[in-house]
Amino acid sequence: MKTALCELLGIEYPIVAAPMGPDLTGPDLVAAVSNAGGLGILQAQLAPSPLFREEIRRVRELTDKPFGVNLILHFPVDEQVAICIDERVPIVSFFWGDPTPYVEHVRSGGAKVFHQIGSVADAQRAAKANVDVIIAQGVEAGGHVAGEVSTLALVPRVIDAVAPLPVAAAGGIADGRGVAAALALGAQAAIIGTRFLASTEARPHPEYKKKLLSANEDDTIRTTLFGFGWPNASHRTLRTRFVEDWLETKHAAKNRARTNRSSAIPLSPAKKCRFSASWGSRQTSIQPVTSDRWICWRAKASVSSARSSLRQKLFVR
Ligand SMILES: Cc1cc2nc3c(=O)[nH]c(=O)nc-3n(C[C@H](O)[C@H](O)[C@H](O)COP(=O)(O)O)c2cc1C
Repeated sequence: MKTALCELLGIEYPIVAAPMGPDLTGPDLVAAVSNAGGLGILQAQLAPSPLFREEIRRVRELTDKPFGVNLILHFPVDEQVAICIDERVPIVSFFWGDPTPYVEHVRSGGAKVFHQIGSVADAQRAAKANVDVIIAQGVEAGGHVAGEVSTLALVPRVIDAVAPLPVAAAGGIADGRGVAAALALGAQAAIIGTRFLASTEARPHPEYKKKLLSANEDDTIRTTLFGFGWPNASHRTLRTRFVEDWLETKHAAKNRARTNRSSAIPLSPAKKCRFSASWGSRQTSIQPVTSDRWICWRAKASVSSARSSLRQKLFVR
C-alpha cells in the first residue's frame, strides 16, 4: 500500500526503520530496509567524522534506494550536516531539539528533512521551521522518548495541528496490525524501531536480541540510566538485571541519603555488568566490567547531582 509520503520519498511501502543510536542501525540494516521497499535511516553521529562519512558511503554501496541519516540535536551537528549535504544524503532526520537553524540549509542542499517530536507544540515549531515530514513519537517508543502522550492520542492531534504536512507515527508499532493502525489514524508511514533492533542486520549483541524477542509489554521501563553525555534525557529500555540493580541502587541511595548522609552506597558483584555501545566494538553488548571505579562512576552519574557529598564517597571503595 502506497501513501502520498511514499510518492514523495520514492519508496514502495510506508515503513521506516527508525534510526537507533549510537550505531545500532548501521548500513546493513538501513540498506536492507531500503532495498525491501521501505526507508532505512542510519544513526552514526557519535562516530568520528571520517567514519561517519564512511558509514554513509557504505549504505550507498549496499543500496541505490532512498535512505536517511539521523542527527540528534542535543549534540553538535554542524560537521555532520555538512557531510550529509556533501554526500548528497536524500533525507536528514532530526530529533531532540529545535531543527530551525538547520532546515533551510539542509533543504537547499537537496535533502528532505524529517523531525521527530513528542508534543503538539514541538510539531508546530517544526512545521514553522519548514520541515518536510514530522514524526509523532508516542511515549511507548523505545530509546529516547521526547513526550508523555501515547501514539494513539498524539498522532491524530499532531496531524490536525500541522495539516497538510505529512506525519509519520512512531512508538509501539511492531507488526502489520500496528502499521494498519498508524495509517488508520491518518499517519502516512509507520516508524519502527525496537522490532528492527531484533533483526539479523541490526547491530545489537545477539543476547540482547534474544532478550528483546522474549520480552513482553511489561518488560520495559522509562529511565535516565544510559545518559552518558546526554543526561536527564529519558529513554525506554528493557528491564535487564543491570537496570533492576540500578533502580535498587538508586532507591537505596535515596533512602540512605535521607537517613544517613555519611554512608557510602554498597555495590554488589551483580553490578559488574553494563550495557555498552561504543564505536570500534561494532557491537552493543552486555559486558563484564573489571573496574569497580567505573561502576562507582556510573552509580555516581545516576544519583542526583545535588548530592555532591554522597557522590564523593562513591569513589571510596
Ligand atoms: C535502542 C534505540 C535507540 C534509539 N536511538 C535513536 C536515535 O539515535 N535517534 C532517533 O531519532 N531516535 C532514536 N530512537 C527512537 C526511534 O526513532 C523511534 O522513535 C522508536 O524506536 C519508535 O518506537 P519503537 O521502538 O516502539 O518502534 C531509538 C530507539 C531505540 C529502541
